[in-house]
Amino acid sequence: MQVVAGPSSRRLAEKVAELTGSDLIKVFSKTFPDGEVYIRLLSKPISPPYIVIQSMSPPQDSSLMQLLQIISAIRFESMGKIVAVSPYMAYARQDKRFLEGEPISAHIVGKVIESLGADAFLTIEVHSDSALKGFQIPALSIEPESLIAEYISEELSGNPFLLAPDEGALSRVSRLATILGCKYGHLKKSRDRYTGEIHVESPSYDFEGQDVVIYDDIISTGGTMALASKFAKKAGASKVYTLCIHGLFVGNSINKLTEAGVSEIISTDTVESIYSKISMAPLIAEEITKFV
Ligand code: R5P
Repeated sequence: MQVVAGPSSRRLAEKVAELTGSDLIKVFSKTFPDGEVYIRLLSKPISPPYIVIQSMSPPQDSSLMQLLQIISAIRFESMGKIVAVSPYMAYARQDKRFLEGEPISAHIVGKVIESLGADAFLTIEVHSDSALKGFQIPALSIEPESLIAEYISEELSGNPFLLAPDEGALSRVSRLATILGCKYGHLKKSRDRYTGEIHVESPSYDFEGQDVVIYDDIISTGGTMALASKFAKKAGASKVYTLCIHGLFVGNSINKLTEAGVSEIISTDTVESIYSKISMAPLIAEEITKFV
């Protein structure tokens, strides 16, 4: 097995290679002045399966293109099995046609990855399972809660209340709460499909003297988490932690969270940033052994 370190997931790929005792294929990458991306494999793929680790981190289109380029470059050298591991799958939120005239972008992603020769696809907590329906090859989304629970019990004191910022996040929050034995609940969020504006309403909570961890799959603009954090603070929370799997942190999201009174921002390394405090390497390492 050889692990190929895509430009967006270099550190994660190194960890996976180390944990699995595999060879690491490094990838040279650059961006041309007009924005086009270029990659070159720095050693030969000679020992399949090839585990390509490349998240679709912002800028998503460039990261996706780099992933496609890597798969294609491997295929020039070898017909061995390729497992494309994109810890964050972009476009997964457009998993259906919400409005007339829209495409299903998530399915486009699946189709192109497959058409270039990937034999399997692996991601972490895809926003919705229907996003994977564009793939005909095996495509799997792994739940990260076991590793996240480990982090919470080791790093956060006491028994926090786990809050889902909307109903969509509730199943994840309930999985985490079950492992940790914490209380949990959720807010109700609605988003205007045309303006993107969000509103939060909720049953009445009393968090007086309690720490609250708000857990969501994605932090993008930070709007959802900022609203939920303000809500938790108003309900008396001592400390508010925002915890996400995929930390995209676009624009002034960090300021928004700080201004909302968030004590700590925690993310995994599906998208690598200074907030990547929980590594998904052990989960990926375990899962890819099934493809060997
Ligand atoms: C949407 O349903 C997702 O689960 C997240 O809540 C959303 O993507 C977060 O986006 P933002 O940070 O821009 O509010």
